[in-house]
Amino acid sequence: MCGIVGYVGARDAQELLVASLRRLEYRGYDSAGIAITNNGRIEVRKSAGKLQRLDDLLEDQPIVGTTGIGHTRWATHGVPNDVNAHPHTDASGDFVLVHNGIIENFLSLKEALLEDGHEFRSDTDTEVLVHLVADEYDGDLLEAVRRAIGRAKGAYAVVVMCAHEPGRIVAARMISPLVVGFADGETFLASDIPAILPYTRSVLVINDGEMVDINADGATVQTIEGEPVHRTPMEVTWDAGQAEKGGYPHFMLKEIFEQPAVIEETLRGRLQSDGSVILEGADFPAGFVAGLEKIWITACGTAYHAGLVGRDVLEKVLRIPIEIDYAHELRYRDPLIRPGTMTIAISQSGETADTLAAGRLATELGSRLLALTNVVGSTLSRDAADILYTRAGPEIAVASTKAYTAMLIGTYLLALRLGLERGTLTAAGAAQLAGELRALPEKANRALDMDADIAKIAGRIAGVDDIYFIGRGLDYAVATEGSLKLKEISYMHSEAMPAGELKHGTLALITEGTPVVVVLTQSHLYDKTISGLQEVKARGARVMAVAYEDDTEVAKYANHVLRIPRTADFLSPVLSIIPLQLLAYHIAKELGHDIDMPRNLAKSVTVE
Ligand code: F6R
Repeated sequence: MCGIVGYVGARDAQELLVASLRRLEYRGYDSAGIAITNNGRIEVRKSAGKLQRLDDLLEDQPIVGTTGIGHTRWATHGVPNDVNAHPHTDASGDFVLVHNGIIENFLSLKEALLEDGHEFRSDTDTEVLVHLVADEYDGDLLEAVRRAIGRAKGAYAVVVMCAHEPGRIVAARMISPLVVGFADGETFLASDIPAILPYTRSVLVINDGEMVDINADGATVQTIEGEPVHRTPMEVTWDAGQAEKGGYPHFMLKEIFEQPAVIEETLRGRLQSDGSVILEGADFPAGFVAGLEKIWITACGTAYHAGLVGRDVLEKVLRIPIEIDYAHELRYRDPLIRPGTMTIAISQSGETADTLAAGRLATELGSRLLALTNVVGSTLSRDAADILYTRAGPEIAVASTKAYTAMLIGTYLLALRLGLERGTLTAAGAAQLAGELRALPEKANRALDMDADIAKIAGRIAGVDDIYFIGRGLDYAVATEGSLKLKEISYMHSEAMPAGELKHGTLALITEGTPVVVVLTQSHLYDKTISGLQEVKARGARVMAVAYEDDTEVAKYANHVLRIPRTADFLSPVLSIIPLQLLAYHIAKELGHDIDMPRNLAKSVTVE
């Protein structure tokens, strides 16, 4: 994520940049900073923490000037501190930039720059870009930026200023969003439209592979290859509040729809075409993976449900025992955790008190702790020997959706990385899995197409007293998360169980019209689950099935079928959770609940 802004005009840039960043804070709030050109010099102020800290700093040390850039950060490389905060400058201080995205080849670029005598101050991937721009500069900022980004691989929106060319800002986009706004005698840049909406409604969206060169009189756009681009700006008609949620009525829905991009982002630069995996934060000692005897997984809530998928996936690939427990249980259980094991603590926030305590216990007992977390620099990431950051971006809705999916992707990456090293996964097997993983963003997009159909079904079950979610194997793991999503935002009683467990008691509760959701993607368990489905159907249940789009059998037994694109059964949780998230969302909406902030719950549970 991260939010970026730029301004050239006649107003006080400091005030405008901070106000614009405030409207982008939902994109990240680990640190913030601005840079302004003032009498041929660039001045920078930046600070770790929320934007308010920067605002306080500027109160003491204001910067005067009418051309500037700004950034609010969601950390991906380097912990959130003052030094890693953007903007970043080169050694001379004449070049300054802000960046949103990930420079995948930053390590090799950094090594080359270090050899050439450049000195680095931060741990960010971004800093390489400003050194490259300074190196490439010969009097024209646009050309310097073009040559610099020509050497970088990855996703970026980058905004650059140079002390030698006051009143000019150059920006470029590859994947990460960027818009330009136009008003009389002033021009704006931002990650998204709401940031600049109070100043202009005339906006041009910059496309992937384009560069934009702005001054107070307007902007010229061209491709990175130098082809001129002529597009007319659009007139924005919607309001800023709507826009922060990207036009969605709730953050939860926006985050559900962000999942294809999150899957892609979490894989980016890690999954290689041959199926091998680079995990930049995991540095296992020699022989550790080969000698690994057991893996423990610990987490709470949705993260625990991601761990249930992880248990089956890692067990299948690594052929060693995998044990999972809730962090609040594990920490008080006197568990037999031994040296020679790995403990994976999963936490979106990296701050859940019980997960931290369970992770610390595992470390004390000699297990090597790996943090699977979404928040760079979180306590969990600092406690752990190894870190695998999911790259879901800030999750605002209390009910977790995109962070769950990113955790699943993290687990698959880990399984590939460890399986290849242990030799339990063949190169051919890994390459095949990698191909299937790469296809997931597009398939997740197609799964989202069911949104309108699910909204209709939701209307028919909103407000029933009880609802049950069943499945076997990985489908059971998904059923647990589907059930939690529903109960936390609909306040309906909902229970998940393995399909085989129904007849051991719960079947007594199934009567005429009881809704039962069955997840049905695991081919080797298909017939067994179908017979469980027939059992509930025979008692009058109203059955909703989540099944592959080419499943011709399921419609004979289910009242509604929510269809997902076919994938390897092993990866199906990434897709089968989508209809269940949408079902929960639409039921809660139907009931008129506060979807983004459900009662009694908090986003981060930092107390026991
Ligand atoms: C449910 C949800 C919670 C969290 C749980 C752990 O939608 O978000 O169940 O998953 O509180 O939080 P993290 O992952 O931050 O440790």
